[in-house]
Amino acid sequence: MTYQSPIPQLGLGTFGRTGEEGIETILAALEIGYRHIDTAQSYGTEANVGEAVGRSGLPRADLFITTKVADTNLARQDFAASVEESLETLGLDQVDLLLIHWPSQDDLVPFEDYMQELVKAQQRGLTRLIGVSNFPIALLEKAMALLGPDALVTNQVEIHPYHQSPRLVAYCRSKGLSLTAYQPLYKGAVNDDALLQEIAAAHGVTASAIALAFLMAEGHAVIPASGSRQNLERNFAALKVQLSDADIQRIGALDRGARHINPAKSPRWDD
Ligand SMILES: NC(=O)c1ccc[n+]([C@@H]2O[C@H](COP(=O)([O-])OP(=O)(O)OC[C@H]3O[C@@H](n4cnc5c(N)ncnc54)[C@H](OP(=O)(O)O)[C@@H]3O)[C@@H](O)[C@H]2O)c1
Repeated sequence: MTYQSPIPQLGLGTFGRTGEEGIETILAALEIGYRHIDTAQSYGTEANVGEAVGRSGLPRADLFITTKVADTNLARQDFAASVEESLETLGLDQVDLLLIHWPSQDDLVPFEDYMQELVKAQQRGLTRLIGVSNFPIALLEKAMALLGPDALVTNQVEIHPYHQSPRLVAYCRSKGLSLTAYQPLYKGAVNDDALLQEIAAAHGVTASAIALAFLMAEGHAVIPASGSRQNLERNFAALKVQLSDADIQRIGALDRGARHINPAKSPRWDD
């Protein structure tokens, strides 16, 4: 499947990567060649991203930085100020992508309010692109009805070989909306998978790289995280893997609807 999205297909997750170690990890990733970094207001890693980007000396235009508005900042009176604070923490004038991290639980904040605030942030130039995260089909439908079919560039959701989200993926493909697979390694557990290991051996890479190559072949962006330089390199190697149709089919059969992230604030999932 051809990848058609302005988002660099392989990015770096930063959840939990706080402190100096977190900065070193991002710097190592930038040295390896990662250019897309995923953070969020709720991760406490925006400052680390800003620091690493500054220390790297890389031109701003070469980088793709995503942050997400926390569900506690969705109200009209909080939204814009929270984005301005993110930019200050990141040391940036603009992010490349701003996401709604979670839809408001039980419509505590009206849907229209925070979706319109998201568009306003883009109109003000606080972000180049906008998208959502953890949105099921019903909310994507609502968002497209409100904002038009092309306003959003991605829906960032949990997708990995054990949770392939077939209903959501089919819907998003039909609408030309790309998905970003979070927790794409199922927290590293895919590395122990016998089938992925078998395919990995044939390609001279790790099982994790095969999982990432599979998700990219499915047309998704991926944002794996690692605190180890070696694993960052191993994961980056996924970009060079060309899987056969037969292998893609075999990995497709690993899906077992194993959702890992399912907090109380979750919407009604499709898969
Ligand atoms: N939008 C949302 O609601 C949401 C939710 C969850 C996550 N996310 C985003 O998605 C990113 C990735 O998710 P995640 O960090 O939860 O999980 P993940 O990327 O699936 O897995 C990270 C874990 O896998 C291990 N790992 C990485 N590469 C490996 C390799 N080659 N071999 C063996 N183990 C490996 C890491 O350990 P080492 O450090 O030892 O390598 C780490 O413990 C997050 O950082 C965050 O940016 C978004």
